[in-house]
Amino acid sequence: MAVVDPAGGQPEQLIPWATGASGGQWRASDAYAYEQDPVGFLSEALGRCGDTFRFGRNAVFLGDPDEVHTVLTETGRAFHTGRDILDGFRSNPDEITALWMRGRRAGRAGLTARAASAGAHRMRERIRADLAALAGRPVDAAGEASGLCSRAALAYCLTSVPDALPARLATASERLTGVLDATVPLPAWVPGSAAHRARAAVRALTSVLTDVVEERRRGGEREHAEPDLLDALLTDADASAREARAALQMIITGTHVVPGAALTWLAAELATREGVLDSVRAEAAARGLDGDLPYTTAVVKESLRLHPPVWLMTRDVARTAKVAGYDVGPGEQLVFSPYLLQRDARWWQEPDRFRPGRWLDESQARRARHAYIPFSGGARICAGYRLGLLQLTQTAALLATEYTVGTVGDVDLTPTYESVLVPTALRVRWDPVPAR
Ligand code: HEM
Repeated sequence: MAVVDPAGGQPEQLIPWATGASGGQWRASDAYAYEQDPVGFLSEALGRCGDTFRFGRNAVFLGDPDEVHTVLTETGRAFHTGRDILDGFRSNPDEITALWMRGRRAGRAGLTARAASAGAHRMRERIRADLAALAGRPVDAAGEASGLCSRAALAYCLTSVPDALPARLATASERLTGVLDATVPLPAWVPGSAAHRARAAVRALTSVLTDVVEERRRGGEREHAEPDLLDALLTDADASAREARAALQMIITGTHVVPGAALTWLAAELATREGVLDSVRAEAAARGLDGDLPYTTAVVKESLRLHPPVWLMTRDVARTAKVAGYDVGPGEQLVFSPYLLQRDARWWQEPDRFRPGRWLDESQARRARHAYIPFSGGARICAGYRLGLLQLTQTAALLATEYTVGTVGDVDLTPTYESVLVPTALRVRWDPVPAR
């Protein structure tokens, strides 16, 4: 995984080196062991070194949920999320943070409250149409899920979605992920590099979004009675059109790769766990798709517990601090793993078992609160977590209500631990529920 090196201004590879796991010495075999089985390597290091250990040349790994919680809460002050991966890591993290937070605040109104019911209706119809278009044939789950998710989220966020937008968003998101996954991260000015290609795709996305914003500001777009995310961004009195476009772009860029991975795992659970699809179907029949769907939501949460798409996260240390007994400072990183926290037997009973029921027992769910971070936490918690949960719940309910779901051919649910977690091979097929 490529990470940011704040001191050197250049990206570098995370070098796995756990004090204790290798007797305190950097060994080439550690890098090899980590590449082969990152989770196995980290679990072993946790077993040998305890909850916290030095990891690589300039990182500290945190395995204690309360320490992770503190770091998430302090993000924006003592710690930063990574810098802009496309500007050669030159940007000032404080300025970037200020811009992001402003966009987030303005966007909040468009992702909740008033926009919610109209947006949810548009989103459901989009999901329904997309599921129907793919029904009756084998579908490569990871290949299609991101598109399903981003089209659904775009329908939620925008009253009318320009034809070019979903494809440009897909290309930009996939290429940005390619930058994160690149084995040799080269700067964006190197022609043909992953970052160069990503920057071109991001520009193409920016251009279509600039048109969307201009059109809306001119009032030329069809009258729309339902307020949407863009309305919320444009009613921020201080925001220029450029800032509204930037905030919109920031938010919708999150709708593709990560939610797609989440939906892929959810499809795996629905297709392979006996009885789950039937129970989701029964709940939707009893409560309707507009109401609360506690069991279906529990299925989604449990799938996100076992398979958090963002399985490893980092924070850059901005100011000198003490974390879990370690003195850290600028140039160092903190690393933690939602995947490992969410499968830790100290916080979860039968941690590796798929048990949606644990989410229906409030005391259990509350006890493990800090050990459940599929959407991160603190000020930089996923900007779309409510929408993410809603779209997964609605997709599960629609699939169960209208289709039977099964796997096709060889299935290999071994996770690939890249920047997002996806199963190695999963093809699914859904067919209309036979009329009774
Ligand atoms: C199930 C679906 C989703 C999951 C599991 C998820 C997970 C995450 C995680 C873990 C982060 C934080 C990464 C980090 O701190 O390193 C994040 C950030 C973000 N997500 Fe999501 N996400 C989902 C859906 C969405 C949706 C639907 C949107 C847009 C509407 C979205 C927009 C964002 C944005 C804008 C950020 C960056 C927030 C910031 O840095 O301030 N996400 N997401």
